[in-house]
Amino acid sequence: MTVETIAFDHVSFAYPGTGKQVLQDVSFQVGKHERVALVGLNGSGKSTLIKLLLRLYDVNKGAVRINGTDIREYRLQDLRRSFSVYFQDDPSYRFNLRENITIADMEREDGDTAVIRAIRDSGAGEILDRAPAGLDTFLTRLFDNQGMELSGGQYQKLALARTFYRRHSALILDEPSSNLDPRAEHNLFLCLDRFSQGKTVLFTSHRLTNVSLANRVVVLENGRILEDGTQEELLAHGGRYAELFRYQQERFQAETNRAGNNRLSYDRCRPVLQIMISLQSPPFVQIIYNTPYRLSLLHSLKPSLRNLIICGGSLFC
Ligand SMILES: Nc1ncnc2c1ncn2[C@@H]1O[C@H](COP(=O)(O)OP(=O)(O)OP(=O)(O)O)[C@@H](O)[C@H]1O
Ligand SMILES: [Mg+2]
Repeated sequence: MTVETIAFDHVSFAYPGTGKQVLQDVSFQVGKHERVALVGLNGSGKSTLIKLLLRLYDVNKGAVRINGTDIREYRLQDLRRSFSVYFQDDPSYRFNLRENITIADMEREDGDTAVIRAIRDSGAGEILDRAPAGLDTFLTRLFDNQGMELSGGQYQKLALARTFYRRHSALILDEPSSNLDPRAEHNLFLCLDRFSQGKTVLFTSHRLTNVSLANRVVVLENGRILEDGTQEELLAHGGRYAELFRYQQERFQAETNRAGNNRLSYDRCRPVLQIMISLQSPPFVQIIYNTPYRLSLLHSLKPSLRNLIICGGSLFC
């Protein structure tokens, strides 16, 4: 089945055994080859919508439709096969590196080239480069001393590689960059932009800078749709999305200003610092810790004091 459109049509849902309505009368569409970002505070129901789409649970009211047909009318296997999904809590497997990728699409027969491409596209290339036995390296040291243990962010990259490896017509990503460092996150979204051309995409993200990848943004709050529109429309509307966006922007601005102020204070302090450098005075250590010039200033110190500060290590972190 080729997924072209996805529609949530007046969907309500409570997890079995709980009385709490997690989703209430939710309706929105992801059009053909459209990219939609789901945004909302923790617990607003984003991941639950994805679980309903894959029929991990069935809706209590309303319907989820693919290409206009209620998903309960498709064979479960066909439905799930048509998506490539990255889950927020994707597990890692105690298999080797190759198997950790190919498990996503066991019917593919194009060998290691496709596996390696998926690994590099997801930003996990450095894992492969370090792997003592290449794709045969076990991702555990339990059975093999040559095995590798990975960090949370590295496992996330591998899970994304699995998502990229799987052939699909629709891509679903639930918080794909939550554990990634800023560079990996930047590269991931560049890659996703390329990778998802001509595909129907639904993704969630708390990092609103990534949301610019989407054609449309749907904001959920307490299981209800609060806003639905393009990023520009929602920013102009001045509602919840604009508020969340402003928080992130203000934080970024504050960080930028702080760096700028440090620069200013360094400029103002320059004459004092010059004297301290010439005297090699201990308070200088504190001051360079608080300036963005600490490395360049370090070079102007006598080697003896430089070593002392380097031994102090944490002063520079
Ligand atoms: N298996 C479950 N059983 C019962 N309640 C659940 C279950 N999974 C999630 N919930 C509840 O459903 C609500 C929505 O959870 P969901 O995981 O969809 O939120 P989310 O928007 O994805 O949040 P986050 O931003 O933290 O990922 C929450 O109140 C949560 O406690
Ligand atoms: Mg979630």
